[in-house]
Amino acid sequence: MINKIKEHLKKIEVLTATTAEEIEKIRIEYLGKKGVFKDLMDDFKQLENKLKPEMGKAINELKSSVQEKLEKLKSSQKVSSGKSKNTLDLSRPAGETEAGSRHPISIVRQQIIDIFSRIGFTVSEGPEIEDDWHNFSALNFPKEHPARDMQDTFFLDKNQELALRTHTSSVQVRVMENENPPIRTISPGRVFRNEAISARAHCIFHQVEGLYIDKDVSFADLKQTLLYFAREFFGEETEIRLRPSYFPFTEPSAEMDIYWGLNSEADYRITKGTGWLEIMGCGMVDPNVLKSNGIDPNVYSGYAFGMGIERIAMLKYQVKDLRMFFENDVRFLKQFSSAY
Ligand code: PHE
Repeated sequence: MINKIKEHLKKIEVLTATTAEEIEKIRIEYLGKKGVFKDLMDDFKQLENKLKPEMGKAINELKSSVQEKLEKLKSSQKVSSGKSKNTLDLSRPAGETEAGSRHPISIVRQQIIDIFSRIGFTVSEGPEIEDDWHNFSALNFPKEHPARDMQDTFFLDKNQELALRTHTSSVQVRVMENENPPIRTISPGRVFRNEAISARAHCIFHQVEGLYIDKDVSFADLKQTLLYFAREFFGEETEIRLRPSYFPFTEPSAEMDIYWGLNSEADYRITKGTGWLEIMGCGMVDPNVLKSNGIDPNVYSGYAFGMGIERIAMLKYQVKDLRMFFENDVRFLKQFSSAY
């Protein structure tokens, strides 16, 4: 009998079970009505009295080791069923991770920066909150001049000394203050205007403005640079034209259009039937602006230009409503992927 018990002890030690049914089977095999213990107890009853204490002890030990084993099996079963079974499948491919993509405005901004970097333009940045001097006065907007109304401004104080910048020309003023010509820089950044939000306008948008100051800079340099940009961005065949315009900080001033074509009904709508699309403002830096910023207009001349990134991105991606760029709807944003 003692050998029988020892054998059972060994067997119990190596028992395994992973499902609840298997565990229950083991319990019945040992503790059930017709189980191992029932048999052992029957044998026990037949024993001589003097053997009973030793056998009783052995049977009790066996019983507690069965119970311990059952507990162990149950708790390890709980752990493995608590986790999903799949986590144990080491060969399963990892779940997809959403990597996200760049915002279309960032993509276009970077493309514009790349195009101008290739011809030697540096990138300058400046504060979004500006004082009157950097946003207006240094750019030849006299106080009370109606030209200030061209850019509906969010002022930050009663005296209208501080405002959210209305263009990144303010950054170029800071560059002129701190550097000597030759200056060749672009300033990408966020700008603010107090405009009603619609499909074509927003109170926050992004610009890239450029400034080139050196000896003998001419209008021909400006035109060639803008042609280079237009062809790099919109394609080799792109045609441009410059129309006279007005900005306080440039003289002469112009607006640059690209020839978009009239191939579809939409082309008629977006070009108002002309085939031409306005892309940016530009001109020769007004001598007053050079003077205000400590640069001698008798020695130096320069050109400047500025464009809205949203407008360029709308054309590139055929986006009809500018507000889409600000809503952060992932269904919209997911559609843009790029090496940038
Ligand atoms: N600063 C002008 C604007 O915001 C754009 C511009 C820049 C025009 C440089 C001419 C020269 O509208």
